[in-house]
Amino acid sequence: MKSFAALLLLPFLLTAPAIAEENGVRAFAPCRACHSLDPAERGLPGPNLAGLIGRTVAADPEFDYSPVLRKARDEGLRWDAKRLEAFLADPAAMFPGLWMSIRGIEDAAERQALTRFLGDPASR
Ligand code: HEC
Repeated sequence: MKSFAALLLLPFLLTAPAIAEENGVRAFAPCRACHSLDPAERGLPGPNLAGLIGRTVAADPEFDYSPVLRKARDEGLRWDAKRLEAFLADPAAMFPGLWMSIRGIEDAAERQALTRFLGDPASR
């Protein structure tokens, strides 16, 4: 009986990573209006986010950033998972004067899924 229950659970265990990925894709959906993860896609209202994690803040050379983000770039601030998650919780609190007027993401699991997704282009 125990092994039967395990068999029932198996499909859920196997699809769990796919669900996490899907959540990241879904969480990024509203961002797509302004951002692309494809380095070749240009001309959106926001900077290109390809390779975001590990890169310096405000590092899209073709984007004209706000003074607050340019200052962060000049200070050598980098995007790591921790900073990105905090940013997504309340973007304007981290960078007062930010030219990105979206509300923060309240759900921690959604922020984590989105951070994972932004850090792993292969999961696109
Ligand atoms: C309405 C357009 C718009 C939407 C929607 C939007 N952004 Fe932005 N985003 C911007 C703009 C514009 C900037 C540059 C802000 C500045 O210069 O102050 C930016 C900057 C950023 C940066 C910093 C980039 C860098 O090069 O350092 C990140 C990270 C980011 N956005 C993530 C997101 C995520 C994740 C979402 C979805 C939850 C999102 N944005 C939704 C317009 C948008």
